[in-house]
Amino acid sequence: AEAPVIVVPKRVAEEEVDDGRKKVTVFFGTQTGTAEGFAKALVEEAKVRYEKAVFKVIDLDDYAAEDDEYEEKLKKESLAFFFLATYGDGEPTDNAARFYKWFTEGEEKGEWLDKLQYGVFGLGNRQYEHFNKIAKVVDDKLVEQGAKRLVPVGMGDDDQCIEDDFTAWKELVWPELDQLLRDEDDTSVATPYTAAVSEYRVVFHDKPDTYDADQMTNGHAVHDAQHPCRSNVAVKKELHSPESDRPCTHLEFDISNTGLSYETGDHVGVYCENLSEVVDEAEKLIGLPPHTYFSVHTDNEDGTPLGGASLPPPFPPCTLKKALASYADVLSSPKKSALLALAAHATDETEAERLKFLASPAGKDEYAQWIVASQRSLLEVMEAFPSAKPPLGVFVASVAPRLQPRYYSISSSPKFAPNRIHVTCALVHEQTPSGRVHKGVCSTWMKNAVPATESQDCSWAPIYVRTSNFRLPSDPRVPVIMIGPGTGLAPFRGFLQERLAQKEAGTELGTSILFFGCRNRKVDFIYADELNNFVETGALSELITAFSRESATKEYVQHKMNQKASEIWNLLSEGAYLYVCGDAKGMARDVHRTLHTIAQEQGSLDSSKAELFVKNLQMAGRYLRDVW
Ligand code: 2AM
Repeated sequence: AEAPVIVVPKRVAEEEVDDGRKKVTVFFGTQTGTAEGFAKALVEEAKVRYEKAVFKVIDLDDYAAEDDEYEEKLKKESLAFFFLATYGDGEPTDNAARFYKWFTEGEEKGEWLDKLQYGVFGLGNRQYEHFNKIAKVVDDKLVEQGAKRLVPVGMGDDDQCIEDDFTAWKELVWPELDQLLRDEDDTSVATPYTAAVSEYRVVFHDKPDTYDADQMTNGHAVHDAQHPCRSNVAVKKELHSPESDRPCTHLEFDISNTGLSYETGDHVGVYCENLSEVVDEAEKLIGLPPHTYFSVHTDNEDGTPLGGASLPPPFPPCTLKKALASYADVLSSPKKSALLALAAHATDETEAERLKFLASPAGKDEYAQWIVASQRSLLEVMEAFPSAKPPLGVFVASVAPRLQPRYYSISSSPKFAPNRIHVTCALVHEQTPSGRVHKGVCSTWMKNAVPATESQDCSWAPIYVRTSNFRLPSDPRVPVIMIGPGTGLAPFRGFLQERLAQKEAGTELGTSILFFGCRNRKVDFIYADELNNFVETGALSELITAFSRESATKEYVQHKMNQKASEIWNLLSEGAYLYVCGDAKGMARDVHRTLHTIAQEQGSLDSSKAELFVKNLQMAGRYLRDVW
């Protein structure tokens, strides 16, 4: 019999029955679902290997309602794995934030975890400064608190091939688990890559129920990632001039009467739809008519749960068209588990073998090249393997991951626009190495959106607000330095709207400087009039611009920072806050270096003291970054 896998539902205070079976708990801190997917994949494979053990996959947020509960429950764990993504500027994911804070900043407890053996796998990107910080910190803290590390912390690197990192790390995990979980009499030799493909039970309906999926998005008291709120597009404008080869959309979501609210500096998560050309293509590959109406179920007909932990959350009954538009990510590169699911349903033996090979350790380089480096989409892969037609329940459970919300820094302030959420979004439109033109799902949707100003039948999307720590100082007299080239300007437009409102209310404001950069003032100097107005009204003390393509030499915001080094240093010495928003890999990294140089030169500090200075700024919450 299969060992049960229990996905623990929201805060079920279940009392453990000790039936003598070994228990393994697999935690995940996930933002886009990758960490969760790996956690479940580990368990799926482990289930086949260790039939007698009991596995649980747990969302860190659901594990404990209170901090004390974390302590109480963790104490009882003896074998655990943690899949932890590092997000943005070295931050934990939303669902791991509370655990992380408690675990790493809480009071000293000594070696209280001495019964626990564990492994950590991190998900990050080497291009970012805080590569896998969350995984590393948790790993260190676990040891510090007495736990025994079974394997070195896995350093998943999304810049290369994180699937391979995961596979390599698992190879270290199995020998350890063999020792801990195998019975003496257990002779089964589990082969990897045989993990069962999970699928939903699908029920086809003749005609749609009265149930309307689109209505599902409203009516919740609290709006979060699971309960977004339908919101209409009130306004849409193109911000660049027609010569621009990279359009940029200004969009306003109407949030009046929705219950949604936000603060300056927050992010908005947008659940948009795939383009109709993408949906059509996917329909063809699946081979079912677009109006096929179906529902997915995680239980058997008799109500018993389906085996398998790796089922993503189901979605409301809908047509195939709707499912492909809203719930299926078909443009990202397929995971190895998706290739295996396709292989299991390929009628052509050669295709099945090739798919299996790509997912196997021997096919590692091929996968890295043909799938990852070529940015080959799931659709392209399915086109290349036409005999692989998985049933619908397999397709939505194991082949296409859920389409994830896209996050944007809100570019307005509720002080200025209480009923609107403004977004400033550059179009993603690029040729991939395989020759496909990749159109960003959400940026394309925004560019094509029909605003209420043009039609009563306007575009809408489910959205929700994610709070951030990117906030103006609570005392408006504290000076602020803002650095935001391109769409990195977004949150600062919100900041300046807020400061203008404060100014108009008679509040005394401290100095503020904005460094903005773009290619050419005639083409992509977004919100130029508004920015000039902020200067005229005194909401902004100084606007400093860098135009990178107006002359032979590139002028970037960090070059302008260098020119203003002494002013920046003086303001920082007076307690200024410094904010950076925009591209993480290039701009934010270079700005960070420039800040370091300014500290060295202006403060006459040696390199390590300058580093300490910048670190202290960060620790004090006076150097904040909203980078992507
Ligand atoms: P470029 O495209 O001419 O290289 C907004 O995208 C602005 O940021 C553009 O002017 C862009 O210049 C500039 N930019 C690109 N890389 C940058 C970097 N590493 N640091 C600062 N600005 C950069």
